[in-house]
Amino acid sequence: MAVMDQVSTDRYAIYHADCIDMMDALPPDKVHLSVYSPPFGGLYHYSSNERDLSNCDDYDAFFRHYEFVVRGLHRVTMPGRMTAVHCMDVPSGNSGKAEHYRDFPGDIIRLHEKLGWHYVARYAVWKEPLAVRLRTMQKNLAHQSLVEDSSRCGVASADYLVVFRKKGENPVPITHPVGLMEYCGEREIPRDVLKFRGWTGKQTQNRYSHWIWRQYASAFWDDVRMQRVLPFREARASDDEKHVHPLQLDVIDRIVTLWSNVGETVLTPFMGVGSEVYSPVMLGRKGIGAELKASYFRQAVKNMEVALQGGRDFGETLPMDLGDDMDGAA
Ligand SMILES: C[S@@+](CC[C@H](N)C(=O)[O-])C[C@H]1O[C@@H](n2cnc3c(N)ncnc32)[C@H](O)[C@@H]1O
Repeated sequence: MAVMDQVSTDRYAIYHADCIDMMDALPPDKVHLSVYSPPFGGLYHYSSNERDLSNCDDYDAFFRHYEFVVRGLHRVTMPGRMTAVHCMDVPSGNSGKAEHYRDFPGDIIRLHEKLGWHYVARYAVWKEPLAVRLRTMQKNLAHQSLVEDSSRCGVASADYLVVFRKKGENPVPITHPVGLMEYCGEREIPRDVLKFRGWTGKQTQNRYSHWIWRQYASAFWDDVRMQRVLPFREARASDDEKHVHPLQLDVIDRIVTLWSNVGETVLTPFMGVGSEVYSPVMLGRKGIGAELKASYFRQAVKNMEVALQGGRDFGETLPMDLGDDMDGAA
């Protein structure tokens, strides 16, 4: 494969490379889980590299290119194991006046079904409408639009996590002998269940794990900490139309915990600044990632050095914070 740069340790291997080449170089059926955000159907352009999936002529061209990625993931994934795709409905333009959408999650589902995956779950990650308005300045989310002509009003779209299982029998069960141990989210764990954490007795009595499981098994993930993301601002290159928006670590931590065992391999084809490698490594898995853009790769290298030192409590303030002054959102 044509690798421009790479860093390998016994806990992760990250490549400045095209993910399709990177997966071609891997053996079949060995990856235990993959998790990623693809470029959203060409909505934002990360670079002018012709191998960049965001650099496509239109939505259909994106899917023709993306098909190679989904085929590659299918080949390298162990039978019976999962791939989790973070996505959203794609607005017709990125001018902030989005008036209609394409069913991007639905098109992703149909592509996976065509290529040998079973569609097994869809989770919605809730977004607070005013925070979305302040971050994106979408006109259809302004209260003023409601006042003037509510036919122009829109929705603060959720993010979706669509999950697929490769057909075939899983040879290695993903076990949780004492249930789930950590909760990744804003909601406070009820005090009366804390004493069951790590319960080694009958698991029907493990009220701590049962409480976490109920949050994770819900189709609505409504307490993801939006600011809990890896540092990304320094990775911005001078030609950036929009800087990369890292996936929240709470989302990745949940996926990695639910669908991989400690010591297993988790892959991301679209690494960005490294979130989907950082989380697995912090949770005792091995991470593999590819990123095409040099400035993002360099930031991923730095972020992974933090992981090797034991990690940090990230909570970078994003511009999606609610401001004191609501006028901006009106
Ligand atoms: C939505 S971003 C992913 C951000 C990532 N989830 C994070 O938390 O940092 C998509 C990324 O895919 C990268 N990309 C696009 N085409 C690629 C390809 N063929 N191989 C590797 N990376 C690619 C882009 O440069 C961009 O960083």
